[in-house]
Amino acid sequence: MQVRDLVRTFGDFTAVDHISFSVRKGEVYGLLGPNGAGKSTTFRMLCGLLPASGGTLMVAGADLLKAGAKARERLGYVAQKFSLYGQLSVDENLEFFASAYGLRGRHRKDRIAALKNQFELDQFSRLPSGQLPGGFKQRLALAAALLHEPDILFLDEATSGADPLARRQFWGRITALSEQGVTVIVTTHFMEEAEYCDRIIILDAGRSLAEGTPAEIRAHAGMGGEAAATMEEAFIAIVEKERHRQAERAA
Ligand SMILES: Nc1ncnc2c1ncn2[C@@H]1O[C@H](COP(=O)(O)OP(=O)(O)O)[C@@H](O)[C@H]1O
Ligand SMILES: [Mg+2]
Repeated sequence: MQVRDLVRTFGDFTAVDHISFSVRKGEVYGLLGPNGAGKSTTFRMLCGLLPASGGTLMVAGADLLKAGAKARERLGYVAQKFSLYGQLSVDENLEFFASAYGLRGRHRKDRIAALKNQFELDQFSRLPSGQLPGGFKQRLALAAALLHEPDILFLDEATSGADPLARRQFWGRITALSEQGVTVIVTTHFMEEAEYCDRIIILDAGRSLAEGTPAEIRAHAGMGGEAAATMEEAFIAIVEKERHRQAERAA
């Protein structure tokens, strides 16, 4: 996936300001940044849910903004506020998403059964999804997004609200998917989760501040020549440096 000079404005406000990055097949790629950085807006454009104001989006050589539905069939998306139906049971949610993805007959039955098994959801088949315990809501949202075997999976803050154990299990599943060749693009505001990503981009106020592997970013962010010890430290240093630069420019 190649993103070049992606822009999104809302009136005279620029939410995404000339962002560029590329993600290789099977990579786990992270968008990190504080609230309002433009992560969800970027995701919605990448998934074809929101038109871009400018820039290009290529997926496996096809222009996502022009290719439309055909290119989007290859994507799976877990929205920041999961699009599960809380009153519908686990089975009903999976049936709903399977229809939405156009799965039919035997294949549809098999996919639902396989994902329920893989995500240990069988025990909750008839439970309204709103009543699922902690990490199982995340599991169901992920299972629903994988029904049609997407090549690229988008997860927007998918671990927020989950306890540490559930988050660790979740990342275990993500790593396994990427090892099977699925490209996974995530957003997170948990800085330490950057370490699960092969590469990350740091966004603040719509702009890209740094890009690279977590180790590269910690190395560059370090003050006085030493690498930052944690991603949290690196992140704060990078954002502060940029805000300082902006303030100087404005003065
Ligand atoms: N539909 C919209 N209309 C106006 N402003 C929006 C809209 N969607 C997002 N924004 C603004 O764009 C900025 C980036 O939002 P968002 O992409 O949700 O950030 P993040 O996901 O990084 O927290 C925020 O200031 C937000 O208020
Ligand atoms: Mg968001």
